[in-house]
Amino acid sequence: MRSKADNIKLAEQFVKQELEFDPTGHDWWHIDRVRKLTLEIAQKETSADEFICELTALLHDVADEKLNDSKQAGLDKVENWLTGHIADKDVINKVMTIIATMSFNGGQNPPMESIEGQIVQDADRLDALGAIGIARTFAYSGSKGTIIHNPELELSHFSQMEYRSTNKTAIYHFYEKLLKLKDMMNTTYAKELAERRHQFMEEYLIQFYNEWNLED
Ligand code: ADP
Ligand code: NI
Repeated sequence: MRSKADNIKLAEQFVKQELEFDPTGHDWWHIDRVRKLTLEIAQKETSADEFICELTALLHDVADEKLNDSKQAGLDKVENWLTGHIADKDVINKVMTIIATMSFNGGQNPPMESIEGQIVQDADRLDALGAIGIARTFAYSGSKGTIIHNPELELSHFSQMEYRSTNKTAIYHFYEKLLKLKDMMNTTYAKELAERRHQFMEEYLIQFYNEWNLED
């Protein structure tokens, strides 16, 4: 039987093949950052199974609905890989349960049950915050052909209108998602990190509007 370390290596190869140069913020280095942060949080949560955490962190975006024909097609891709490489059905079930329920989904998904799921979800959300989160937001918007900001679209107006995703500006994404994430963290350590990264985004937005309005 292959060792856990060998399976992690094979998972890395699979993810690189799928996502290495993804231009929407899900490239290999996003996966690598989430994996490292996952392991750091897991070390502070003594009951977490580090193998499940790391494997899930590596595979979590292969199933992303935005990168596949459908949500089910993405989940099937991950499940096929797992059944081809991992003998332990319990591991496969745990990883699949986490991946199927961890997306932001407008904040509508039920709370993550397993500690491993809570950790990977926190790590993934932390990578959407702070300086890196800002960079990913503009990269994502650029890849979809979206403009940076439109001051004529007031926020109150936004919430009442039905928007196609291409109409949302990059700055709108801060209000739609990024600024909500710090209150959605599961683990204590992630809450601490999120607080700092959140603060940085608040400062960034102040400077952004100051420059925009020639008040800097
Ligand atoms: P994750 O890898 O955390 O699941 P997503 O798939 O939601 O992230 O998105 C990838 C990156 O692009 C994240 O940093 C996210 O905040 C950003 N992003 C997602 N949707 C939008 C959007 N509509 N406009 C701008 N940025 C977005
Ligand atoms: Ni991700």
